[in-house]
Amino acid sequence: MTGSMIDPFGRAISYLRVSVTDRCDFRCTYCMAEDMTFLPKKDLLTLEELDRLCTAFVEKGVRKLRLTGGEPLVRKNVMHLIRQLARHLDSGALDELTLTTNGSQLARHAAELAECGVRRINVSLDTLDPAKFRQITRWGDLGKVLDGIEAAQAAGLKIKLNAVALKDFNDREIPELMRWAHGRGMDLTVIETMPMGEIDVDRTDQYLPLSKLRADLERVFTLRDIPYRTGGPARYVEVAETGGRLGFITPLTHNFCESCNRVRLTCTGTLYMCLGQEDAADLRAPLRASEGNELLSAAIDEAIGRKPKGHDFVIDRRTSRPAVSRHMSVTGG
Ligand code: GTP
Ligand code: 5AD
Ligand code: SF4
Repeated sequence: MTGSMIDPFGRAISYLRVSVTDRCDFRCTYCMAEDMTFLPKKDLLTLEELDRLCTAFVEKGVRKLRLTGGEPLVRKNVMHLIRQLARHLDSGALDELTLTTNGSQLARHAAELAECGVRRINVSLDTLDPAKFRQITRWGDLGKVLDGIEAAQAAGLKIKLNAVALKDFNDREIPELMRWAHGRGMDLTVIETMPMGEIDVDRTDQYLPLSKLRADLERVFTLRDIPYRTGGPARYVEVAETGGRLGFITPLTHNFCESCNRVRLTCTGTLYMCLGQEDAADLRAPLRASEGNELLSAAIDEAIGRKPKGHDFVIDRRTSRPAVSRHMSVTGG
């Protein structure tokens, strides 16, 4: 099965994002409604099946694997899966095995993650104010996340913080968040909120174009574009005053689809070829249909063969419906 996956637009697919659960112990207002219905546990792929799927993608040319959620660390025995997947790092088949986490359970798992060969993780953190943190996550405890970050750094993990930029919520706090992150040796990326799934708040009220945030930051800081890349969608600048890196993820104001290298798999074995489109391919049936991987491999090829050119995200007062009906937590971004 070894080879590379090339989509109809000539893009090589080398990055697989795997949502190991749709559940989360937070309810971030831009991500979920407060009252969410999650998948019944019986619909989940087993950890062995997830491993088999990931391994099939690695054999087909994936070099970077990121576990997401919901919150990946709330999936039962997820460390067992990570240990298993780490064999692809040891063999050299994989360049990076990592995860995106809300940090709530990180303190317990940090040392083991580092032991498995995870080098770098992304932690979502939108504010350093405990009351605002509670407000945006509805259920979260900032103290636990900060403990998690500290434990991860103590274990030698590099950290990128993710902050969704929200108008009149954390826009004025980004400089402080950036100084805090850079002062502790972490990168920070800011993200434009994307219209995915029905939530309880109005996205037009939340949406902050990062072109505006960048212009505001440039009144105070000296930002220099740099070619640093991680394989993700962020475009980075170096901040002269802090010496740190700041990334911009701009699906709304600056489309980055032409360099898309990724697809995403859900915990039920559904493959989404684009975050911003509804089209998906079922990999669970071919996975379960035989012990060999021929059917699965063919289903993956067929899916990559219809990867769309890009997303159609827009946020404005005239478009009240989200661009896609599923929530971000189905694929973890
Ligand atoms: P790095 O490896 O550090 O570059 O990570 P990453 O940016 O690829 O992953 P992360 O999980 O930290 O995601 C940060 C943000 O980027 C999230 O809001 C994701 O939803 C968003 N993102 C990742 N891939 C895509 C994509 O293909 N399209 C869009 N629109 N957003 C994406
Ligand atoms: N738009 C943009 N980013 C989002 N995230 C969750 N929901 C949204 C949204 N609607 C972010 C989280 C996390 C990453 C995986 O996606 O904050 O950092
Ligand atoms: Fe959970 Fe992440 Fe969604 Fe927040 S953004 S509710 S932490 S999945």
